[in-house]
Amino acid sequence: MSYPSTAKDFLSELINEIAQKDRLHSKKINANINTLSASHPSLYDELVELVRLYFSTRELSMERIASDYLKMIRDMRAEGLYFYKHGKYRCENQKVANEYVYSKPDVMSYYMHALLVSQILWKHHFNIFVHFQQQLKVLFPANAALKILDIGPGHGFFSFLIKKEFPSYEKIDVVDISQTSLEMTKRIIGIDQGKINYTLSDIFDYEVTEKYDFIVLGEVLEHLDEPGEILKKLSHLMHKEGLLWITTPTNSPALDHVYLFHNKEEVLTLIKSSGLDIVNTCNYFAEDMDEETALKNKITNLVGLFAKNKSL
Ligand SMILES: C[S@@+](CC[C@H](N)C(=O)[O-])C[C@H]1O[C@@H](n2cnc3c(N)ncnc32)[C@H](O)[C@@H]1O
Repeated sequence: MSYPSTAKDFLSELINEIAQKDRLHSKKINANINTLSASHPSLYDELVELVRLYFSTRELSMERIASDYLKMIRDMRAEGLYFYKHGKYRCENQKVANEYVYSKPDVMSYYMHALLVSQILWKHHFNIFVHFQQQLKVLFPANAALKILDIGPGHGFFSFLIKKEFPSYEKIDVVDISQTSLEMTKRIIGIDQGKINYTLSDIFDYEVTEKYDFIVLGEVLEHLDEPGEILKKLSHLMHKEGLLWITTPTNSPALDHVYLFHNKEEVLTLIKSSGLDIVNTCNYFAEDMDEETALKNKITNLVGLFAKNKSL
């Protein structure tokens, strides 16, 4: 199979495949790609190249990638119909999500492929990396020897950016409940001469005695029955001066989303009531519209924030 050899070719072949199956959707993501590649060309190219490399080493055809991506879009539409009718997510709890999604390699595999692609096709997904990278440079010194914990990493892009900004990092411990997800992260960011360690575990069962300088919890809170409990645990796993990066979407129906945040304020309230202080926040709506209309229509809003342990 001949595979597109550049990030640019990969994107254009992917869009062509998607257009053949869903022309309307392809128009939308084509517009996104043009905006993102013009606004942050170097980061955009870098992430697209990671996606291209991942799929090329897996030897997955462009047809398969497009099909997996569009299957997730259809699943999300179905979950959306339920959500707008009943005002809640369909998946009842994390046990159900584990049974039907995380522990099922066939489901998890198409889902993770689709999520990986969405990082470079959706504005709100890509823009969160822009904010993250900018803030990393402000919040930690360039020569920091950080000990990092990355929970539920999926694509691993947050750890990729940490590695890049802080080459003298000490280690990254990666924890995920799904083997499929861990395998994807490992293929994308590797083991870096043993500095990156992978553990298959529910984060609630993860026990270590050491403390971390930086903990990453990207799009995991909404998968948990009691997200406040994990925040309390992470607050203990973090050094007194450590930082926690959290992202979570509000109003975001999906196969395995369990905990519904109705708005950004609910996310911030939960963080503050879990023994943490907020350092800064960002948020990106999934559709281009003014904030008032987006809130009224319950459009997904991806919230990102840095937090630290409450000062005594
Ligand atoms: C949507 S992905 C997040 C990927 C990436 N971090 C991001 O920000 O886009 C959610 C990940 O959390 C993992 N996960 C869900 N519940 C978990 C738990 N209780 N313990 C550890 N990992 C969990 C899933 O297996 C999946 O890999």
